Amino acid sequence: MIRLRNVCKSYPSGDTELRVLKEVSLDVSEGEFVSIMGPSGSGKSTLMHIIGCLDVPTSGSYQFRNQHVGELSPVELARLRNQEIGFVFQNFHLLPRMSALRNVELPLVYAGERKDVRRARAMRLLSEVGLADRMHHLPNELSGGQKQRVAIARALANQPSLLLADEPTGALDTATGKDIMTLFQKLNENGMTIILITHDPHVASYATRVIRIVDGQIVDDQGRAGA
Ligand SMILES: Nc1ncnc2c1ncn2[C@@H]1O[C@H](COP(=O)(O)OP(=O)(O)O)[C@@H](O)[C@H]1O
Ligand SMILES: [Mg+2]
Repeated sequence: MIRLRNVCKSYPSGDTELRVLKEVSLDVSEGEFVSIMGPSGSGKSTLMHIIGCLDVPTSGSYQFRNQHVGELSPVELARLRNQEIGFVFQNFHLLPRMSALRNVELPLVYAGERKDVRRARAMRLLSEVGLADRMHHLPNELSGGQKQRVAIARALANQPSLLLADEPTGALDTATGKDIMTLFQKLNENGMTIILITHDPHVASYATRVIRIVDGQIVDDQGRAGA
């Protein structure tokens, strides 16, 4: 599904450049559940932004489902990002004035789905993440774990083939974090490909494969499919 080859990412920094990713090569197959671990500043989020087509490598190549991402037009890229990839963030990124239901419906509005289709799908997804009785609440009426469930339902709205999560339990207490990881595990068992960034070894242990990144390079890769 994902094929990165010799991916580098640099940012200009004064007279030199800051090399954030250094020759990263990585394959992820359909159906995998991968955790990415590494110290703060090691390049994890940068790598995830490239995988999620939110950013582009400085050099190297990226293929997503056999498409060369670097050769797509902006419109094709936006389509790929919206239709194929769901994102979950540490701080949920919910719109505060919209109910849980409307937050989950929003990507479907952008995708041009009809109102009855959007409503039905958002209700089904919120039920699947255990929030059938909280659909009409605003984010500030929900606990952290409930907010993250809404965010996960929203990430699934366009039926993506890949779910990316950057420190999804980072703002949650340990018990709530476990509940969220159990939900990711269930989604993976139902076929979703998941790549998740975490600091926490216990969180990482829910994945079937753990990649460690230090100073912009993959230093360890345990549990790779076929390895
Ligand atoms: N847009 C940017 N411009 C300049 N430097 C950046 C930018 N994004 C990230 N960096 C730098 O790249 C390094 C890696 O960042 P990041 O990928 O966010 O690390 P992590 O998620 O592992 O903590 C950091 O030193 C960060 O300051
Ligand atoms: Mg980060």
